Amino acid sequence: MSESSSLDHVDQSVEIAKAGEIPSHVAIIMDGNGRWAQNRDLPRIEGHRRGVSTVRMVSEVATELGIDTITLYCLSSENWKRPQAELDFLMHLLEQYLVEERKSIMDQGLRLQVIGRRDRLPEKVLSQMNQTISMSAENSGTRLVLAIDYGGRDEITSAVRTIANKVNLGELEAESIDEACVNQHLYTADFPEVDLMIRTGGDMRVSNFLLWQISYAEFWMTDKCWPEFAKQDFLSAIQDFSTRQRRFGGLEVNE
Ligand code: IPE
Ligand code: IPE
Ligand code: MG
Repeated sequence: MSESSSLDHVDQSVEIAKAGEIPSHVAIIMDGNGRWAQNRDLPRIEGHRRGVSTVRMVSEVATELGIDTITLYCLSSENWKRPQAELDFLMHLLEQYLVEERKSIMDQGLRLQVIGRRDRLPEKVLSQMNQTISMSAENSGTRLVLAIDYGGRDEITSAVRTIANKVNLGELEAESIDEACVNQHLYTADFPEVDLMIRTGGDMRVSNFLLWQISYAEFWMTDKCWPEFAKQDFLSAIQDFSTRQRRFGGLEVNE
């Protein structure tokens, strides 16, 4: 396929995606960076480096389609088990992203937010992160959420701890704890429900991502690794989402 006809094809896919139902919140497990690199005899970190371009592409498409929220799994609470050199590189890449993407974030009107623990991140990363978050806080475009040192169980556990403290202090009645109350104590309190969960890299698992939030999310998996996940793949996931029949436990379609 020539470059121009392939571009036409992508443009057509954008139109098809726009005509269907657009998910409000897309969560992505960006997996397979290391394998992508190893399959090419490159060091694993090269896969992480290439993965940044895919993050850029996904943010642009989210803006183009008017997706409300996109949450990207950048580092899990379990990823600290990895070799220090890889973790150091990931922190370096993150810091670089938070500085170098500022212009593009502002140009697109993205609102950058971060979910996950902050206490284990290097000071340098935290300070760049806080600057980019506050700089983009008033933007009205897509909310771009980076999940960093994030674990679904850790998130739910700290919500339970906060709620228990409130009960102890007499600020909350145990009987009044309902799903909305739990939801309000999660990082994602004011986010829309996750409609679509994408995982690249071929594995069929959740790996501790947004455990509470994905209760009725549609899943879309691909064998493609994150550095090779293309605009057309993302558009295919969105188009596929719009054909799913979501019943939320009921019987009627689109009830
Ligand atoms: C995902 O790619 C990125 C992070 C977890 C930081 P991986 O680094 O997990 O790549 P694979 O799955 O080993 O190929
Ligand atoms: C999930 O990928 C975490 C991120 C993409 C940041 P992992 O590579 O850590 O997941 P497992 O270990 O294969 O389940
Ligand atoms: Mg992996």
